[in-house]
Amino acid sequence: MGSELKYLAVLAITLAALLHSTAAQETHVVGDKFGWLVPPGGHYAYEVWAAGHKFSIGDILEFNFTTGDQDVAKVTKQAFDSCNSTSPIELKTTGPANFTLDTIGEYYFIGTKDRHCELGQKLAINVTAHSGSPTPSPSPKPSPTPRGPVTYVVGDQFGWIVPPGGELAYSAWAYGKTFYVGDTLVFNFVNGTQDVAVVTKAAFDNCNTNSTVAVFTNSPVNIILNTTGELYFTSTYDRHCELGQKLAINVTAKSTGTATSLSSPTTPSSHAPSAQSPAAPGPYNSAPSMINGSGYFVSFLLVALSFFH
Ligand SMILES: *[C@@H]1O[C@H](CO)[C@@H](O)[C@H](O)[C@H]1NC(C)=O
Ligand SMILES: *[C@@H]1O[C@H](CO)[C@@H](O)[C@H](O)[C@H]1NC(C)=O
Ligand SMILES: *[C@@H]1O[C@H](CO)[C@@H](O)[C@H](O)[C@H]1NC(C)=O
Ligand SMILES: *[C@@H]1O[C@H](CO)[C@@H](O)[C@H](O)[C@H]1NC(C)=O
Ligand SMILES: *[C@@H]1O[C@H](CO)[C@@H](O)[C@H](O)[C@H]1NC(C)=O
Ligand SMILES: *[C@@H]1O[C@H](CO)[C@@H](O)[C@H](O)[C@H]1NC(C)=O
Ligand SMILES: *[C@@H]1O[C@H](CO)[C@@H](O)[C@H](O)[C@H]1NC(C)=O
Ligand SMILES: *[C@@H]1O[C@H](CO)[C@@H](O)[C@H](O)[C@H]1NC(C)=O
Ligand SMILES: *[C@@H]1O[C@H](CO)[C@@H](O)[C@H](O)[C@H]1NC(C)=O
Repeated sequence: MGSELKYLAVLAITLAALLHSTAAQETHVVGDKFGWLVPPGGHYAYEVWAAGHKFSIGDILEFNFTTGDQDVAKVTKQAFDSCNSTSPIELKTTGPANFTLDTIGEYYFIGTKDRHCELGQKLAINVTAHSGSPTPSPSPKPSPTPRGPVTYVVGDQFGWIVPPGGELAYSAWAYGKTFYVGDTLVFNFVNGTQDVAVVTKAAFDNCNTNSTVAVFTNSPVNIILNTTGELYFTSTYDRHCELGQKLAINVTAKSTGTATSLSSPTTPSSHAPSAQSPAAPGPYNSAPSMINGSGYFVSFLLVALSFFH
C-alpha cells in the first residue's frame, strides 16, 4: 500500500500540474461517486468534499442525483444557514443538474425535499479567479528536522467522520505526515455517532470489526503512539468502514531530535495508547491541511485513481 500510494501521489502531482495549467474548465461532481444525497456524516460530508476542491470561474458543478428522490436549489447564505427553501434563487429538479460557476464569490446549495437540508444535504463553495500562472505546490514534505512530540488531529477540523470521498480522504490526510513514537493522534467526533476501533491489518482490509484490538467511544480519543509499526483505525458502526472511515499509519522510531516540545504541550509518556484525556483539542485545530494541502491533493488523487478503473 505504501509504495502504491507513493506512486499515485507522484502521478497525482504530475496530473495536478498538468491539469491546472491547461484545463480552462473543470467539472466537479459534487460528492464524487456518492453524488448528491443526504450524507451519512451530516453536513460535514459536503464541507470535507468542498475543502478538497478548488473552484475557479468557468468551472461546472454537477449535482448527480436521481430525479424525484433529490433536487438542488441555489440559495442565499441566509436561506442556506436556516435551510429555508421557500424562495430559492434557482431550483433544479432533474438530475444530474449542472451549475456553471460564472461569478467570483460564495455559492450556496441545498436540497429542498423534506428535511434533507437539515440532515446535511447542503453545500457552500467559494469560487476564485483562475490563478494566472499556476505554481503547483502540492508538496507535503516530511520534515527531516529533529522535533519534539507532535499532536495530530485526525481529519483536522472535520474530525473523524464518514468521508464523502471514501477512504482516500484519510489516506490523503496521513500522506506526507511522519508519525514518531511519542506523537499523539486525537480523534474528534460527536459522542454516540462514531467510535474509534483499533484493528488488525486483516480486519482493516476486510472491514471486519467482529473482533477489535480496542474500541473507544468517548470523544476526544487521544492515542499515544507508543510503539513502531503499522496502526489501523476504523469504526464499528454499520458500514462506516466500507464507506471509507479508516486510517492506516506507520509509526517510526523516535526522531533523533531534542526532547523539547515545540508544537504541543503533550507529554510523551509510557501510557498505553488508550489514554483518554478529556483535554480540549482546540489549540490543535489550527492546521487546515485538508483545505489547501492534501485536500486539493485528494481530488487529484481521485482523478489519478480513475485511470486505474
Ligand atoms: C513502515 O515503516 C517501516 C520502516 O520505515 C517500513 O519498513 C515498512 O515497510 C512501512 N510499512 C508500510 C506499510 O509502509
Ligand atoms: C451519477 O450516478 C450514477 C448512478 O449512481 C452513476 O452511474 C454515474 O456514473 C454518475 N455520474 C457521474 C458523473 O458521476
Ligand atoms: C424563508 O424565506 C422567505 C423568503 O425569503 C421568508 O419570507 C420567510 O420568512 C423565511 N422563513 C423563515 C422561517 O425564515
Ligand atoms: C453537465 O456537465 C457535464 C460536463 O461538462 C456534461 O458532460 C453533462 O452532459 C452536463 N449535464 C447536463 C444535464 O447539462
Ligand atoms: C471566499 O474567498 C474570498 C477571497 O479569497 C474571501 O475573502 C472570503 O472570506 C471567502 N469566503 C468564505 C466563506 O470562505
Ligand atoms: C461476524 O460475526 C457475525 C455474527 O457472529 C457472523 O455472522 C459473521 O460471519 C462474522 N463475519 C466475519 C467476516 O467473520
Ligand atoms: C463524550 O463523552 C465523554 C464521557 O461522557 C465526555 O467526557 C466528553 O466530553 C464527551 N465528548 C463530547 C465531544 O461531547
Ligand atoms: C503500548 O500500548 C500497549 C497497549 O495498551 C501496551 O500493551 C504496551 O505496554 C505499551 N507499550 C509501551 C512501551 O508503553
Ligand atoms: C493554506 O493554508 C495555510 C495555513 O496552513 C493558510 O495560511 C493559507 O491561507 C491557505 N491558502 C489557501 C489558498 O487557502
